[in-house]
Amino acid sequence: MTKISIRKITVSDIPEVITIENESFSTPWSEVSFFSEINNPASICRAALSGDSLIGYVCASCILYEGRILNLAVRPDYRRKGVGKMLAQSILKALRTSGCKKIFLEVRASNTVAIRLYESLGFRMLSLSRGYYFLPREDAVIMGLQLP
Ligand SMILES: CC(C)(COP(=O)(O)OP(=O)(O)OC[C@H]1O[C@@H](n2cnc3c(N)ncnc32)[C@H](O)[C@@H]1OP(=O)(O)O)[C@@H](O)C(=O)NCCC(=O)NCCS
Repeated sequence: MTKISIRKITVSDIPEVITIENESFSTPWSEVSFFSEINNPASICRAALSGDSLIGYVCASCILYEGRILNLAVRPDYRRKGVGKMLAQSILKALRTSGCKKIFLEVRASNTVAIRLYESLGFRMLSLSRGYYFLPREDAVIMGLQLP
């Protein structure tokens, strides 16, 4: 596999991001959502690249020492090659640098792949949010990580 690199997302990446977003989620973020996150000073968005191709992305926010992972996806043909973990590790490092002490996220209860990925990084399941998601209606698992 070509070497994977990670860099900040720019507005010109949005079309490639949207393609992966639509392939990955039943309720995808819109272009406007990505545009506002990329331009939000409290947010950090990173892209993974293989050569010139964008193959994954992650967005998070850090407000008052509390981080939140908002979105993470990898292009289907690049999954299970360590890209998701690389993106998650990169955003955790950036959140720590921004002064975050705790990080939270929500994930569909049936998304065992993502839950395993987050657990492998030290996240623990904290609670369930009943009926949080729609299309299909599903509970969210709230996960948290305390940074050293
Ligand atoms: C979740 C997602 C980002 C993982 O990306 P990925 O690049 O495939 O993940 P990685 O290859 O880095 O795998 C990291 C860990 O995740 C878990 N994992 C990944 N794919 C898995 C699979 N098919 N089955 C079980 N566990 C899996 C494993 O613990 C793996 O570690 P290991 O390979 O050392 O066993 C990707 O599957 C995706 O884009 N899914 C759709 C969008 C989504 O669900 N995003 C998360 C929303 S919270």
